[in-house]
Amino acid sequence: MPLWLPVVLERRLRIGEECFTLAAQLLSLVPGKPGIFARRSFYLMAIDRCATDCHIGFGTTLSHPQVSIGPGVMIGHRCTVGCAEIGRDATIGSNVDILSGRRQHGFDRTDQPIQNQGGEFTQVRIGSNCWIGNSAVVMADVGEHCVIGAGAVVVKPIPTNAVAVGNPATVKRVRN
Ligand SMILES: CC(C)(COP(=O)(O)OP(=O)(O)OC[C@H]1O[C@@H](n2cnc3c(N)ncnc32)[C@H](O)[C@@H]1OP(=O)(O)O)[C@@H](O)C(=O)NCCC(=O)NCCS
Repeated sequence: MPLWLPVVLERRLRIGEECFTLAAQLLSLVPGKPGIFARRSFYLMAIDRCATDCHIGFGTTLSHPQVSIGPGVMIGHRCTVGCAEIGRDATIGSNVDILSGRRQHGFDRTDQPIQNQGGEFTQVRIGSNCWIGNSAVVMADVGEHCVIGAGAVVVKPIPTNAVAVGNPATVKRVRN
């Protein structure tokens, strides 16, 4: 409750995400089962949608509350999750980064710091029953039932049932 209340106020009053970030980082550091329970309990109340049976590993942080986590989702250790919708039964390995798209910073101008040029955050969708391998970086949608190889960098949407690997991730085969 002490973590959740300021987060709700912050969101209702649209005054940033400082409290959310503090709580997400703090709870990411709780080890073992108590950590899984604490993170799930907090995110159940603090993000767009969080299934009651999801598993969010040690060191994993959600960067924004605009996240939807479906039933049966397992997220490994030390992941970062931006604005994302993660479908039912998806398995996310460890050290995976799910970014809020590819354009968080504008960089058209060279006479201004990139930090001052705005940008856009888009929601990335990970379909149900996907398996995202360790250390993948996901910046675009992944269809249902896909397998994304360890270390892959997803920059363009991956179609349903695909097994995609590499940087940039390309489809190696399609699952029957
Ligand atoms: C992608 C993966 C599931 C294998 O899928 P697969 O369909 O059985 O693929 P194959 O082993 O038959 O390999 C197919 C091709 O992809 C390549 N490949 C496989 N995995 C790759 C990867 N992660 N990165 C780059 N290339 C890869 C293989 O070298 C092979 O290349 P080739 O066609 O030139 O010979 C597996 O390699 C992988 O990355 N698993 C993730 C493991 C992991 O992260 N576990 C922890 C999280 S739970």
